[in-house]
Amino acid sequence: MQKKHYYIKTFGCQMNVYDSERIAAILQNMGFAPASSQAQADIVIFNTCHIREKAAEKVFSDLGRAELIKQERALDGKDTIIGITGCVVQAEDEQIAKRAPYVDFATGPLTYHRLPEIITKVLRKKSAGTIIDTEFPAESKFDYLPQANSSSGCAFLAIQEGCNNFCTYCVVPYTRGIETSRPVEEVIKEARNLISKGALEINLLGQNVNSYHGEDAGGKERGLAYLLNKLAELDGLKRLRYTTSYPADMDDELINCHRDIPILMPFLHLPVQAGSDKILKAMNRRHTAGDYLRIIEKLKKANPKIGMSSDFIVGFPGETDKDFQATLDIVNQVKFIQAFSFKYSRRAGTPAAVMPEQVEEKVKKERLETLQNLLFSYQSKFNDSCVGKTTSVLFESKGRHKGQLIGRTPYMQNLHVEAGKEFLNKIVDIKITGATTNSLSGILKGE
Ligand code: 5AD
Ligand code: SF4
Repeated sequence: MQKKHYYIKTFGCQMNVYDSERIAAILQNMGFAPASSQAQADIVIFNTCHIREKAAEKVFSDLGRAELIKQERALDGKDTIIGITGCVVQAEDEQIAKRAPYVDFATGPLTYHRLPEIITKVLRKKSAGTIIDTEFPAESKFDYLPQANSSSGCAFLAIQEGCNNFCTYCVVPYTRGIETSRPVEEVIKEARNLISKGALEINLLGQNVNSYHGEDAGGKERGLAYLLNKLAELDGLKRLRYTTSYPADMDDELINCHRDIPILMPFLHLPVQAGSDKILKAMNRRHTAGDYLRIIEKLKKANPKIGMSSDFIVGFPGETDKDFQATLDIVNQVKFIQAFSFKYSRRAGTPAAVMPEQVEEKVKKERLETLQNLLFSYQSKFNDSCVGKTTSVLFESKGRHKGQLIGRTPYMQNLHVEAGKEFLNKIVDIKITGATTNSLSGILKGE
Protein backbone atom coordinates (compact mmCIF):
# COMPACT_ATOMS: atom_id res chain seq x y z
CA MET A 1 0.00 0.00 0.00
CA GLN A 2 1.24 3.50 -0.82
CA LYS A 3 2.34 5.61 2.12
CA LYS A 4 -0.12 8.32 3.21
CA HIS A 5 1.08 11.90 3.63
CA TYR A 6 0.29 14.77 6.00
CA TYR A 7 0.53 18.54 5.68
CA ILE A 8 0.31 20.89 8.68
CA LYS A 9 -0.02 24.65 8.39
CA THR A 10 0.75 26.55 11.59
CA PHE A 11 -0.56 29.99 12.55
CA GLY A 12 0.36 32.12 15.55
CA CYS A 13 2.75 31.72 18.43
CA GLN A 14 5.67 29.43 19.25
CA MET A 15 3.37 27.28 21.38
CA ASN A 16 1.52 26.44 18.18
CA VAL A 17 4.82 25.57 16.48
CA TYR A 18 5.50 23.20 19.39
CA ASP A 19 1.99 21.72 19.17
CA SER A 20 2.39 21.21 15.41
CA GLU A 21 5.64 19.31 15.98
CA ARG A 22 3.80 17.07 18.46
CA ILE A 23 0.94 16.56 15.99
CA ALA A 24 3.50 15.63 13.31
CA ALA A 25 5.00 13.04 15.70
CA ILE A 26 1.49 11.58 16.31
CA LEU A 27 0.87 11.32 12.56
CA GLN A 28 4.29 9.74 11.93
CA ASN A 29 3.53 7.13 14.61
CA MET A 30 0.29 6.42 12.72
CA GLY A 31 2.31 5.73 9.55
CA PHE A 32 1.93 9.09 7.77
CA ALA A 33 4.93 10.78 6.10
CA PRO A 34 5.38 14.54 5.56
CA ALA A 35 3.93 15.76 2.22
CA SER A 36 5.98 17.94 -0.08
CA SER A 37 2.91 20.11 -0.82
CA GLN A 38 -0.67 20.51 0.34
CA ALA A 39 -1.92 18.88 -2.89
CA GLN A 40 0.05 15.71 -2.09
CA ALA A 41 -1.42 15.40 1.38
CA ASP A 42 -4.00 12.78 2.38
CA ILE A 43 -4.53 14.65 5.63
CA VAL A 44 -4.32 18.45 5.95
CA ILE A 45 -4.33 20.09 9.38
CA PHE A 46 -4.59 23.80 10.13
CA ASN A 47 -3.23 24.60 13.59
CA THR A 48 -4.91 27.90 14.27
CA CYS A 49 -4.56 31.12 16.27
CA HIS A 50 -7.38 33.25 17.68
CA ILE A 51 -5.41 36.08 19.27
CA ARG A 52 -6.38 38.74 16.73
CA GLU A 53 -9.22 38.89 14.22
CA LYS A 54 -6.94 38.74 11.19
CA ALA A 55 -5.31 35.46 12.25
CA ALA A 56 -8.69 33.86 12.92
CA GLU A 57 -10.23 34.99 9.60
CA LYS A 58 -7.27 33.71 7.58
CA VAL A 59 -8.15 30.17 8.66
CA PHE A 60 -11.53 30.27 6.97
CA SER A 61 -10.05 31.38 3.63
CA ASP A 62 -7.40 28.64 3.89
CA LEU A 63 -10.12 26.10 4.64
CA GLY A 64 -12.02 27.16 1.51
CA ARG A 65 -8.89 26.60 -0.56
CA ALA A 66 -8.30 23.22 1.09
CA GLU A 67 -11.82 22.12 0.15
CA LEU A 68 -11.12 22.98 -3.53
CA ILE A 69 -7.90 20.93 -3.44
CA LYS A 70 -9.86 18.09 -1.83
CA GLN A 71 -12.37 18.17 -4.72
CA GLU A 72 -9.56 18.12 -7.30
CA ARG A 73 -7.91 15.16 -5.59
CA ALA A 74 -11.27 13.37 -5.50
CA LEU A 75 -11.32 13.51 -9.34
CA ASP A 76 -8.13 11.39 -9.21
CA GLY A 77 -9.82 8.99 -6.80
CA LYS A 78 -7.94 10.25 -3.73
CA ASP A 79 -9.53 10.91 -0.35
CA THR A 80 -8.47 13.93 1.72
CA ILE A 81 -9.08 14.48 5.41
CA ILE A 82 -9.25 18.13 6.51
CA GLY A 83 -8.79 18.95 10.19
CA ILE A 84 -8.43 22.03 12.37
CA THR A 85 -6.66 22.25 15.69
CA GLY A 86 -5.75 25.12 18.00
CA CYS A 87 -7.40 28.16 19.52
CA VAL A 88 -9.89 29.01 16.74
CA VAL A 89 -11.54 25.64 17.40
CA GLN A 90 -11.84 26.34 21.11
CA ALA A 91 -13.41 29.73 20.50
CA GLU A 92 -15.43 29.19 17.33
CA ASP A 93 -16.56 25.58 17.20
CA GLU A 94 -20.07 26.57 16.15
CA GLN A 95 -18.75 28.88 13.42
CA ILE A 96 -16.64 26.02 12.03
CA ALA A 97 -19.62 23.71 11.79
CA LYS A 98 -21.56 26.51 10.04
CA ARG A 99 -18.91 28.06 7.77
CA ALA A 100 -16.85 24.97 6.95
CA PRO A 101 -19.11 21.91 7.34
CA TYR A 102 -16.78 19.86 5.12
CA VAL A 103 -14.11 19.82 7.85
CA ASP A 104 -13.67 16.25 9.12
CA PHE A 105 -12.47 17.04 12.62
CA ALA A 106 -11.73 19.95 14.92
CA THR A 107 -9.90 19.72 18.25
CA GLY A 108 -8.91 22.42 20.71
CA PRO A 109 -5.33 22.98 21.89
CA LEU A 110 -5.79 20.79 24.98
CA THR A 111 -7.23 17.68 23.30
CA TYR A 112 -5.05 17.01 20.27
CA HIS A 113 -3.50 13.98 22.01
CA ARG A 114 -6.79 12.29 21.09
CA LEU A 115 -6.03 12.64 17.36
CA PRO A 116 -5.20 8.94 16.83
CA GLU A 117 -8.74 7.89 17.84
CA ILE A 118 -10.35 10.80 16.03
CA ILE A 119 -8.45 10.22 12.77
CA THR A 120 -9.06 6.47 12.95
CA LYS A 121 -12.80 7.18 13.24
CA VAL A 122 -12.65 9.49 10.21
CA LEU A 123 -10.62 6.94 8.20
CA ARG A 124 -13.20 4.26 8.97
CA LYS A 125 -15.85 6.75 7.91
CA LYS A 126 -17.65 6.05 11.18
CA SER A 127 -18.59 9.66 11.72
CA ALA A 128 -21.20 11.69 9.92
CA GLY A 129 -20.26 15.38 9.85
CA THR A 130 -17.48 17.06 11.77
CA ILE A 131 -16.03 15.48 14.92
CA ILE A 132 -15.53 18.37 17.35
CA ASP A 133 -13.59 17.99 20.60
CA THR A 134 -13.29 21.20 22.60
CA GLU A 135 -13.33 19.74 26.07
CA PHE A 136 -11.04 21.08 28.81
CA PRO A 137 -9.96 17.54 29.65
CA ALA A 138 -9.19 16.18 33.12
CA GLU A 139 -6.12 14.39 31.82
CA SER A 140 -2.95 16.21 30.72
CA LYS A 141 -2.26 15.84 27.00
CA PHE A 142 1.48 15.71 27.82
CA ASP A 143 0.98 12.26 29.40
CA TYR A 144 -0.17 10.96 26.01
CA LEU A 145 1.98 12.77 23.46
CA PRO A 146 4.82 10.85 21.81
CA GLN A 147 8.37 12.09 22.38
CA ALA A 148 10.00 13.84 19.42
CA ASN A 149 11.53 11.41 16.90
CA SER A 150 14.11 13.96 15.88
CA SER A 151 15.13 17.47 16.82
CA SER A 152 16.76 20.36 15.07
CA GLY A 153 19.57 22.24 16.83
CA CYS A 154 17.00 24.63 18.21
CA ALA A 155 14.09 22.99 20.05
CA PHE A 156 10.91 24.17 21.79
CA LEU A 157 9.74 22.58 25.01
CA ALA A 158 6.33 23.46 26.51
CA ILE A 159 6.56 23.54 30.31
CA GLN A 160 3.46 25.52 31.18
CA GLU A 161 0.17 26.19 29.47
CA GLY A 162 -2.81 28.49 29.95
CA CYS A 163 -3.09 31.77 31.78
CA ASN A 164 -4.86 33.13 34.85
CA ASN A 165 -4.04 36.77 34.21
CA PHE A 166 -7.16 37.64 32.24
CA CYS A 167 -5.82 40.75 30.54
CA THR A 168 -9.05 42.36 29.39
CA TYR A 169 -8.17 42.21 25.66
CA CYS A 170 -6.94 38.60 25.53
CA VAL A 171 -8.60 35.33 24.52
CA VAL A 172 -5.86 33.04 25.82
CA PRO A 173 -7.40 32.26 29.25
CA TYR A 174 -10.56 31.18 27.39
CA THR A 175 -8.85 29.14 24.64
CA ARG A 176 -5.89 27.60 26.49
CA GLY A 177 -7.60 27.44 29.86
CA ILE A 178 -6.22 28.12 33.31
CA GLU A 179 -2.53 27.73 34.12
CA THR A 180 -1.02 24.29 34.43
CA SER A 181 2.67 23.39 34.86
CA ARG A 182 4.36 20.14 33.88
CA PRO A 183 6.32 18.30 36.60
CA VAL A 184 10.06 19.03 36.78
CA GLU A 185 11.13 15.44 36.05
CA GLU A 186 8.90 15.24 32.99
CA VAL A 187 10.43 18.45 31.59
CA ILE A 188 13.96 17.18 32.23
CA LYS A 189 13.15 13.86 30.54
CA GLU A 190 11.85 15.67 27.46
CA ALA A 191 14.91 17.96 27.46
CA ARG A 192 17.25 14.95 27.63
CA ASN A 193 15.46 13.34 24.72
CA LEU A 194 15.69 16.55 22.65
CA ILE A 195 19.42 16.87 23.41
CA SER A 196 20.01 13.22 22.46
CA LYS A 197 18.25 13.94 19.13
CA GLY A 198 20.51 16.91 18.38
CA ALA A 199 19.11 19.95 20.25
CA LEU A 200 21.78 22.45 21.33
CA GLU A 201 19.30 25.15 22.30
CA ILE A 202 16.06 24.69 24.23
CA ASN A 203 13.44 27.38 24.40
CA LEU A 204 11.03 26.75 27.28
CA LEU A 205 7.51 27.73 26.33
CA GLY A 206 4.43 28.82 28.19
CA GLN A 207 1.77 31.53 27.85
CA ASN A 208 2.95 32.75 31.23
CA VAL A 209 6.16 30.78 31.46
CA ASN A 210 7.67 32.58 34.44
CA SER A 211 4.76 31.69 36.68
CA TYR A 212 5.82 28.04 36.22
CA HIS A 213 5.20 26.02 39.38
CA GLY A 214 5.79 22.34 38.58
CA GLU A 215 6.21 19.58 41.15
CA ASP A 216 9.61 18.02 41.68
CA ALA A 217 10.16 14.28 42.34
CA GLY A 218 9.38 14.81 46.05
CA GLY A 219 6.09 16.57 45.31
CA LYS A 220 7.43 20.05 46.16
CA GLU A 221 6.37 22.95 43.95
CA ARG A 222 9.29 24.56 42.15
CA GLY A 223 9.56 27.80 40.19
CA LEU A 224 11.16 28.58 36.85
CA ALA A 225 14.51 29.55 38.43
CA TYR A 226 14.86 26.04 39.93
CA LEU A 227 14.00 24.44 36.58
CA LEU A 228 16.47 26.61 34.65
CA ASN A 229 19.26 25.68 37.08
CA LYS A 230 18.43 21.97 36.70
CA LEU A 231 18.34 22.16 32.90
CA ALA A 232 21.62 24.09 32.79
CA GLU A 233 23.30 21.00 34.32
CA LEU A 234 22.39 18.79 31.36
CA ASP A 235 25.38 17.69 29.28
CA GLY A 236 25.34 18.88 25.70
CA LEU A 237 22.93 21.80 26.19
CA LYS A 238 24.53 25.03 24.98
CA ARG A 239 21.70 27.57 25.01
CA LEU A 240 18.60 28.12 27.13
CA ARG A 241 15.72 30.56 26.67
CA TYR A 242 12.19 30.95 28.06
CA THR A 243 9.19 32.77 26.65
CA THR A 244 6.69 34.46 27.21
CA SER A 245 7.04 36.09 30.62
CA TYR A 246 4.71 38.28 32.64
CA PRO A 247 6.35 41.29 34.35
CA ALA A 248 4.74 40.80 37.78
CA ASP A 249 6.11 37.24 37.93
CA MET A 250 9.76 38.26 37.35
CA ASP A 251 11.00 37.43 40.86
CA ASP A 252 14.55 38.02 42.15
CA GLU A 253 15.48 34.36 41.96
CA LEU A 254 14.64 34.32 38.27
CA ILE A 255 16.43 37.61 37.66
CA ASN A 256 19.54 36.13 39.31
CA CYS A 257 19.50 33.26 36.78
CA HIS A 258 20.52 35.90 34.22
CA ARG A 259 23.63 36.50 36.33
CA ASP A 260 24.42 32.91 37.29
CA ILE A 261 23.57 30.66 34.33
CA PRO A 262 26.06 31.16 31.49
CA ILE A 263 23.97 29.26 28.90
CA LEU A 264 20.91 31.42 29.56
CA MET A 265 20.87 33.72 26.54
CA PRO A 266 21.17 37.47 27.23
CA PHE A 267 17.79 38.24 25.68
CA LEU A 268 14.36 38.45 27.28
CA HIS A 269 10.93 38.87 25.76
CA LEU A 270 8.94 40.65 28.46
CA PRO A 271 5.75 42.25 27.12
CA VAL A 272 4.82 45.59 28.67
CA GLN A 273 1.89 46.22 26.25
CA ALA A 274 1.57 49.97 26.99
CA GLY A 275 3.31 52.81 28.80
CA SER A 276 0.32 54.52 30.42
CA ASP A 277 -0.65 53.36 33.91
CA LYS A 278 -4.29 54.22 33.19
CA ILE A 279 -4.28 51.90 30.18
CA LEU A 280 -2.31 49.17 31.98
CA LYS A 281 -4.97 49.24 34.70
CA ALA A 282 -7.78 49.05 32.14
CA MET A 283 -5.94 46.13 30.58
CA ASN A 284 -5.95 44.45 34.04
CA ARG A 285 -2.16 44.18 33.97
CA ARG A 286 -0.66 43.74 37.44
CA HIS A 287 2.18 46.20 36.84
CA THR A 288 2.73 49.88 36.22
CA ALA A 289 5.23 51.40 33.78
CA GLY A 290 7.43 52.20 36.82
CA ASP A 291 7.34 48.56 38.00
CA TYR A 292 8.39 47.46 34.53
CA LEU A 293 11.33 49.88 34.42
CA ARG A 294 12.49 48.71 37.86
CA ILE A 295 12.50 45.08 36.66
CA ILE A 296 14.61 46.06 33.64
CA GLU A 297 17.03 47.86 35.92
CA LYS A 298 17.45 44.72 38.05
CA LEU A 299 17.89 42.55 34.95
CA LYS A 300 20.57 44.88 33.60
CA LYS A 301 22.33 44.74 36.93
CA ALA A 302 22.20 40.93 36.86
CA ASN A 303 23.51 40.86 33.29
CA PRO A 304 24.57 44.19 31.77
CA LYS A 305 24.56 42.61 28.30
CA ILE A 306 20.87 41.72 28.36
CA GLY A 307 18.74 42.91 25.41
CA MET A 308 15.01 43.44 25.88
CA SER A 309 12.05 42.61 23.66
CA SER A 310 8.37 43.39 24.16
CA ASP A 311 4.84 43.25 22.78
CA PHE A 312 2.78 46.42 22.42
CA ILE A 313 -0.88 47.10 21.77
CA VAL A 314 -1.93 50.49 20.39
CA GLY A 315 -5.46 51.86 20.35
CA PHE A 316 -6.73 50.00 23.42
CA PRO A 317 -10.17 51.42 24.40
CA GLY A 318 -9.77 54.81 26.06
CA GLU A 319 -6.18 55.37 24.85
CA THR A 320 -5.64 59.11 24.34
CA ASP A 321 -2.73 60.84 22.56
CA LYS A 322 -1.20 61.39 25.99
CA ASP A 323 -1.48 57.68 26.86
CA PHE A 324 0.07 56.77 23.54
CA GLN A 325 2.91 59.20 24.20
CA ALA A 326 3.62 57.25 27.43
CA THR A 327 4.12 54.13 25.30
CA LEU A 328 6.62 56.01 23.12
CA ASP A 329 8.32 57.25 26.30
CA ILE A 330 8.88 53.76 27.66
CA VAL A 331 10.31 52.67 24.29
CA ASN A 332 12.74 55.58 24.47
CA GLN A 333 13.74 54.58 27.98
CA VAL A 334 14.21 50.85 27.46
CA LYS A 335 15.47 50.95 23.85
CA PHE A 336 14.10 47.51 22.98
CA ILE A 337 16.29 45.57 20.56
CA GLN A 338 13.26 43.75 19.17
CA ALA A 339 9.48 44.09 19.52
CA PHE A 340 6.09 43.07 18.21
CA SER A 341 3.37 45.67 18.01
CA PHE A 342 -0.29 45.34 17.17
CA LYS A 343 -3.44 47.38 16.71
CA TYR A 344 -5.93 46.47 19.41
CA SER A 345 -8.28 43.83 17.99
CA ARG A 346 -11.73 43.44 19.50
CA ARG A 347 -12.24 39.83 20.59
CA ALA A 348 -15.77 38.65 21.36
CA GLY A 349 -16.22 37.50 24.95
CA THR A 350 -13.36 39.60 26.39
CA PRO A 351 -14.15 42.57 28.68
CA ALA A 352 -12.37 45.14 26.47
CA ALA A 353 -14.56 44.28 23.49
CA VAL A 354 -17.51 46.00 25.16
CA MET A 355 -15.63 48.94 26.65
CA PRO A 356 -17.33 52.15 25.48
CA GLU A 357 -14.37 54.25 24.27
CA GLN A 358 -13.22 52.18 21.30
CA VAL A 359 -10.48 53.92 19.30
CA GLU A 360 -11.05 54.70 15.62
CA GLU A 361 -9.30 52.43 13.11
CA LYS A 362 -7.59 55.43 11.47
CA VAL A 363 -6.05 56.49 14.79
CA LYS A 364 -4.91 52.95 15.56
CA LYS A 365 -3.24 52.76 12.18
CA GLU A 366 -1.39 56.06 12.66
CA ARG A 367 -0.25 55.14 16.15
CA LEU A 368 0.99 51.75 15.04
CA GLU A 369 3.03 53.35 12.27
CA THR A 370 4.56 55.90 14.66
CA LEU A 371 5.38 53.22 17.24
CA GLN A 372 6.83 50.82 14.70
CA ASN A 373 9.07 53.51 13.21
CA LEU A 374 10.44 54.23 16.66
CA LEU A 375 10.89 50.53 17.51
CA PHE A 376 12.60 49.86 14.19
CA SER A 377 14.99 52.74 14.78
CA TYR A 378 16.22 51.14 18.04
CA GLN A 379 16.34 47.69 16.47
CA SER A 380 18.41 49.09 13.56
CA LYS A 381 20.73 50.92 15.92
CA PHE A 382 21.35 47.76 17.91
CA ASN A 383 21.94 45.69 14.77
CA ASP A 384 24.34 48.32 13.41
CA SER A 385 26.27 48.29 16.68
CA CYS A 386 26.95 44.56 16.18
CA VAL A 387 28.87 45.03 12.92
CA GLY A 388 32.55 44.17 13.31
CA LYS A 389 31.90 41.97 16.36
CA THR A 390 32.13 38.19 16.55
CA THR A 391 29.09 36.26 17.73
CA SER A 392 28.00 32.65 18.10
CA VAL A 393 25.27 31.60 15.68
CA LEU A 394 23.12 28.47 15.73
CA PHE A 395 22.32 27.68 12.09
CA GLU A 396 18.73 26.53 11.69
CA SER A 397 17.89 26.50 7.98
CA LYS A 398 19.08 26.99 4.45
CA GLY A 399 18.75 30.53 3.10
CA ARG A 400 16.91 31.72 0.01
CA HIS A 401 20.10 31.73 -2.08
CA LYS A 402 22.15 28.67 -2.87
CA GLY A 403 25.03 28.15 -0.43
CA GLN A 404 23.44 30.36 2.21
CA LEU A 405 22.54 29.39 5.79
CA ILE A 406 20.36 31.25 8.28
CA GLY A 407 20.79 31.12 12.03
CA ARG A 408 20.23 33.02 15.24
CA THR A 409 22.57 35.01 17.42
CA PRO A 410 22.20 34.97 21.24
CA TYR A 411 19.97 38.07 20.78
CA MET A 412 17.58 36.20 18.43
CA GLN A 413 18.77 38.24 15.46
CA ASN A 414 18.55 36.42 12.13
CA LEU A 415 21.99 36.12 10.59
CA HIS A 416 22.83 34.80 7.12
CA VAL A 417 26.14 33.61 5.89
CA GLU A 418 27.66 31.81 2.89
CA ALA A 419 28.44 28.38 4.27
CA GLY A 420 28.05 24.68 3.49
CA LYS A 421 25.21 22.64 4.95
CA GLU A 422 27.65 20.82 7.25
CA PHE A 423 27.18 23.86 9.53
CA LEU A 424 23.40 23.29 9.85
CA ASN A 425 22.28 22.64 13.44
CA LYS A 426 25.69 23.67 14.74
CA ILE A 427 26.85 26.67 16.76
CA VAL A 428 29.55 28.54 14.90
CA ASP A 429 31.56 31.73 15.53
CA ILE A 430 30.71 34.35 12.95
CA LYS A 431 32.15 37.76 12.24
CA ILE A 432 29.30 40.20 11.62
CA THR A 433 29.89 42.20 8.46
CA GLY A 434 26.53 43.84 7.72
CA ALA A 435 23.22 44.83 9.32
CA THR A 436 19.70 45.85 8.32
CA THR A 437 16.67 46.45 10.55
CA ASN A 438 15.68 42.78 10.41
CA SER A 439 18.86 40.80 9.91
CA LEU A 440 22.62 40.54 10.04
CA SER A 441 25.10 39.12 7.58
CA GLY A 442 28.48 37.69 8.39
CA ILE A 443 31.36 35.45 7.47
CA LEU A 444 32.74 32.31 9.09
CA LYS A 445 35.46 33.23 11.55
CA GLY A 446 38.86 32.58 10.00
CA GLU A 447 37.72 33.21 6.41
N1 5AD B 1 -5.49 42.77 20.16
C1 5AD B 1 -4.21 43.07 19.79
N2 5AD B 1 -3.15 42.43 20.28
C2 5AD B 1 -3.36 41.42 21.17
N3 5AD B 1 -2.52 40.62 21.82
C3 5AD B 1 -3.23 39.77 22.60
N4 5AD B 1 -4.55 40.03 22.46
C4 5AD B 1 -4.66 41.06 21.58
C5 5AD B 1 -5.75 41.78 21.04
N5 5AD B 1 -7.01 41.51 21.38
C6 5AD B 1 -1.07 40.73 21.70
C7 5AD B 1 -0.40 41.05 23.03
C8 5AD B 1 0.25 39.75 23.40
C9 5AD B 1 0.58 39.18 22.03
C10 5AD B 1 0.85 37.72 22.00
O1 5AD B 1 -0.54 39.49 21.27
O2 5AD B 1 0.56 42.07 22.81
O3 5AD B 1 1.40 39.92 24.21
FE1 SF4 C 1 -3.11 36.94 27.39
FE2 SF4 C 1 -2.42 38.55 29.41
FE3 SF4 C 1 -2.29 35.88 29.74
FE4 SF4 C 1 -0.54 37.12 28.12
S1 SF4 C 1 -0.75 37.43 30.34
S2 SF4 C 1 -1.70 35.23 27.65
S3 SF4 C 1 -1.77 38.77 27.23
S4 SF4 C 1 -4.16 37.09 29.41
